[in-house]
Amino acid sequence: MADKSFEKCILCIGAGYVGGPTMAMIAAKCPRYEVIVVDINARRIEAWQSDNLPIYEPGLLEVVKQARGRNLFFSTEINEGIRKADIIFVSVNTPTKTFGEGAGRAADLQYWEKTARSIVAAADRDKIIVEKSTLPVRTARALERILSANDKGIHFEVLSNPEFLAEGTAIKDLEKPDRVLIGSQETESGLRARNELVDIYANWVPRDRIITSNVWSSELSKLAANAFLAQRISSINSISALCERTSADVTEVSNAIGMDTRIGKRFLNASVGFGGSCFKKDILNLVYICENYGLHEVARYWESIVRINEYQEERFVRTMTRVMFNTVADKRIALFGFAFKKDTGDTRESPAIYVTRMLLAERARVVITDPEALENARRDLAEEKGDVLYEQDPYSAAAGAHAIAVLTEWDLYRTLDYKRIYDSMEKPAFIFDGRNILDHQKLHELGFSVFPIGRPALKHF
Ligand code: UDX
Ligand code: ADP
Repeated sequence: MADKSFEKCILCIGAGYVGGPTMAMIAAKCPRYEVIVVDINARRIEAWQSDNLPIYEPGLLEVVKQARGRNLFFSTEINEGIRKADIIFVSVNTPTKTFGEGAGRAADLQYWEKTARSIVAAADRDKIIVEKSTLPVRTARALERILSANDKGIHFEVLSNPEFLAEGTAIKDLEKPDRVLIGSQETESGLRARNELVDIYANWVPRDRIITSNVWSSELSKLAANAFLAQRISSINSISALCERTSADVTEVSNAIGMDTRIGKRFLNASVGFGGSCFKKDILNLVYICENYGLHEVARYWESIVRINEYQEERFVRTMTRVMFNTVADKRIALFGFAFKKDTGDTRESPAIYVTRMLLAERARVVITDPEALENARRDLAEEKGDVLYEQDPYSAAAGAHAIAVLTEWDLYRTLDYKRIYDSMEKPAFIFDGRNILDHQKLHELGFSVFPIGRPALKHF
């Protein structure tokens, strides 16, 4: 049971981008519950115990500090945590499989399964297990099988509670979620467990935003939500290619279609491509599931969203090479931003990885700058052969470069002194704005040849 002073003990296994912020919010909002976050990675846990958190997320440190040491604890004692907890959230990583059947598409469930086995081994009474990682539909059922195959007479009730937070806005998303979704079995014990979880969120989320469903709907909703969001980006990116061939401007098109309230304004920014740990993985997961059920047309439909994203990344580098007189060999190219979006240091599936690889294959000299993601960039590119430098300061990165490519929409890139940057660069100086965040007209007046996404290029030749 939880410490006498606490009403309940909540454990989270996996102290990553999802587990860390989510538990910090629960602890901050529910001082009556003890919240313990465990991980096999001792360095990560140490970082969570310090003021130098392992992930960059605006507002996170304040929320952590509010509860840490009071009712929020970070630890590597996984078994002790399991024994103590009434409710166990599992948010370990579920990357795409890199081997065997379904490689490149299906989810790699080995971390999840190991966690389930640790729970069975350490638990000595009934528990509620909450699936927080994105998992293929029907995983909860498989887990239930592993969990109930114990001879201790213990009952585990598995709930699905997908996380919809986006990185960079995690705190806002957790504090005021559009909805919280809880899936459970519709048995008596399933409904009881569901209500326990509803009660936790009801501490700060309005009741009408907490929705419940069966487990499979809940699991599928997470995959479908991400697939729909990614689909909007691939749709507008496909239109951006057409805009570049005609005299249409994709920002005008986005604006015009977004004002239709049935379509809506958000997620219509054309870009160098979407990244992040979820979109590609979840779509490929969906594709794999569809194929398993023989729904080949449905699988192809969703797969095309990922294909357009790859096309967009490739198109971006092809344009760079083409307009820089068909060669970037030995040219210094500064990449502004490496994170997959602003306000995070996360680089998982970032289009910047792909762009860097392609530039290196063309023998360019690549200089990467990013306010938060250089450490991850170094790790991502550790195996790459070629000339890569890392520079914290964007001015130093741009000095002596033939071109700048904006790959992340960090606010700081909007306000740099581009006159100073232009003066320090080789001529002709190029800017490829993969996020359409800069003032293209002004840059052109300074002397740059500017190549946005889906908008007319502004050239000096
Ligand atoms: C996403 C979902 O939004 C979130 O609900 C889910 O829980 C996890 O996956 P996240 O990957 O953190 O969140 O970031 P998101 O804001 O969705 O952006 C994903 C990618 O799409 C980024 O690379 C972003 O730059 C790109 N994007 C987004 C665009 O290119 N254009 C847009 O209009 C919006
Ligand atoms: P997400 O973005 O889904 O939160 P992360 O990779 O950021 O994914 O976090 C997952 C965390 O889960 C990592 O810190 C990893 O060390 C941890 N983890 C993986 N397997 C286990 C396990 N068996 N027990 C405890 N923690 C684990």
